[in-house]
Amino acid sequence: MRIGILNSGGDCPGLNAVIHGVVGAASQLGWEVIGFKDGFEGLLPPGDYKVLRPQDTLGILKLGGTILGTTNKGHFAAKVGKGDIAEVPADIVAKAKRTMEQLEIRALIIVGGDGSLTTGLQLYREGWPIIGVPKTIDNDLRATAMTFGFDSAVSTVVDGLDRLHTTAESHKRIMVLEVMGRHAGWIALWGGIAGGADVILLPEIPYDTEKVAEFIKARDAQGHHSTLVVVAEGAHLPSGELATIAENAGGEVRLGGIGDIVAHRLESLTGKETRSCTLGHLQRGGAPTALDRILGTRFGVMAVKLAEEGRFGRMVSYQAYHVDSVPIEEAVNQLRLVEPDGEMVKAAKAVGICLGD
Ligand code: F6P
Repeated sequence: MRIGILNSGGDCPGLNAVIHGVVGAASQLGWEVIGFKDGFEGLLPPGDYKVLRPQDTLGILKLGGTILGTTNKGHFAAKVGKGDIAEVPADIVAKAKRTMEQLEIRALIIVGGDGSLTTGLQLYREGWPIIGVPKTIDNDLRATAMTFGFDSAVSTVVDGLDRLHTTAESHKRIMVLEVMGRHAGWIALWGGIAGGADVILLPEIPYDTEKVAEFIKARDAQGHHSTLVVVAEGAHLPSGELATIAENAGGEVRLGGIGDIVAHRLESLTGKETRSCTLGHLQRGGAPTALDRILGTRFGVMAVKLAEEGRFGRMVSYQAYHVDSVPIEEAVNQLRLVEPDGEMVKAAKAVGICLGD
């Protein structure tokens, strides 16, 4: 039997661990694995792919990025903006199907986030043997407690905050760190708590910059002359708008700039020297953490098990230390966001972190 795998959307630490897991588990069953390049684009005739044997995946477990390449644009982009869904045109689906048939692919594993899995769901509903694997550093997919890549991104945030802390202390400054996560504040919240941030600003919790400034002034009065602020890229402006850089070809906005805006405002309200830093794609690059290597491996193995059992239209899911699966439709089209009154937010507040509300 022959199965296919592709990853689509932004890259993510741990993608290669999934590929490694899939190839390892499939080879135990005597199956051949075809890796499609650059996401769904590799399915278009004449087909852009490579055969993946265990010897082709040696040493990739520890590598960031993906050996298959990826794209969040192209002919199969299912999302055109927050909440807007576009169908992949019938002629494109038909072309891709021909490649599947010619190669006799009996199961197609799609490793992707909300947009890619939405495409996967469309293909499954059109009769394709699809299995989903959740992937995003943003950790915003429903129906899975965690996605691989998130832990690596959080670790980078923590490393960044540790570094900013020493320079902030030395100069008695406010340092603002803008982090990724799109419309979800998970990276900011986890990274901020673990990195000892004093202020964390999230998309899910409207904040008041004046309250943050008062908090910083109070810290100053108590002898804490430096302050670390983490702001999620999707945190809203006072007007309720998002800070954006551009619109991608697919129609989704590129977020960015909120860190600078918050920094300028805090500087003028507190009179304290303030600098901002954007961590950007450093959060997506580099080697996956041990947790992400293990999650990726387990997800890959579970995807092959689902293929063996013929359980298509399902997405691998992590729940309470256990890897299982759920119908893909339970995971897509609605993001899993930070709960403003949830336990983690309460824990952050309990240790004195200001969320600006
Ligand atoms: O979804 C992952 C993510 O890294 C977001 O956190 C970020 O907003 C976006 O992708 C950046 O995308 P791109 O690499 O296309 O700029």
